[in-house]
Amino acid sequence: MKIEERLKLNSGGTIPQLGFGVWKAKRNDCYKAVLVALEAGYRHIDTAAIYGNEGHVGRAIAESGIERKELFVTTKLWNSAQGYEKSQAAIKKSLDNLQLDYVDLYLIHFPVADKRLDSWRGLIEIQQKGLSKHIGVSNFTQPHLEELIAKSDIKPAINQVEFHPWLNQQDLKSFCEGNGILLQAYSPLSHGEKLSDPALASVAAACNRTPAQILLRWGLQMGNAILPKSVTPERIRQNAALFDFELSEETMKEIATWNENLRTCWDPTEVP
Ligand code: A2P
Repeated sequence: MKIEERLKLNSGGTIPQLGFGVWKAKRNDCYKAVLVALEAGYRHIDTAAIYGNEGHVGRAIAESGIERKELFVTTKLWNSAQGYEKSQAAIKKSLDNLQLDYVDLYLIHFPVADKRLDSWRGLIEIQQKGLSKHIGVSNFTQPHLEELIAKSDIKPAINQVEFHPWLNQQDLKSFCEGNGILLQAYSPLSHGEKLSDPALASVAAACNRTPAQILLRWGLQMGNAILPKSVTPERIRQNAALFDFELSEETMKEIATWNENLRTCWDPTEVP
């Protein structure tokens, strides 16, 4: 495994398994963090319209001098812009903010009850127009995915959900795998909440790595695409230094016992 490791998508093409998240990264902090991440070797940046930082991501990408085809850029359709027509305007606005002609991945950010199917038709159109290479969803539960698959000929390439050892959504992961949908983990560091967990500290000490690196390496070995977020240069680099060690089968099994269905973000199981 290397930092350039890529996973296949059901829509053809691949995605870098390690990505860089910018949720809650504000203005100049976001711009600087993306520049540090690109310098550290990340080639996959994940933003969203609602984060309010697409413009800062775009500025960093433009200034990095890295060729567009080397990068994988994701953004997301926010709830207030859901629906077929509105989604067409929303992607254009996001592309303007990002200073890009296309994104690599466009996601429905949240499974809004009466809008998500119309939004999905919108995303299919967006992909056909070449404005996004791949399309997918975020925060979808198994019932949301079942509904989408039943009502559309096109399956999402990705389902981006909260996923870490304390929210180890095995049933959802198996369902995604069975349907060729790649699970992408946001908040793979439990949004920072469990970084001082004693069991994690003991695995980290035994492996001579930081707790964050153990969580991220676990995510990689689970086969997930992962999106750690940090605005701290040293942590950004640390979170990419995952490719010169491996967790043993025994350690993977131990970490698999930590699940406690902890959600640090919203709970989409409440959405009918
Ligand atoms: P910061 O951005 O201030 O560096 P997640 O990706 O699971 O949502 O977690 C993001 C949170 O974890 C942020 O608060 C981030 O802080 C923090 N964080 C990111 N990387 C590390 C690290 N290597 N060590 C400790 N905390 C980290």
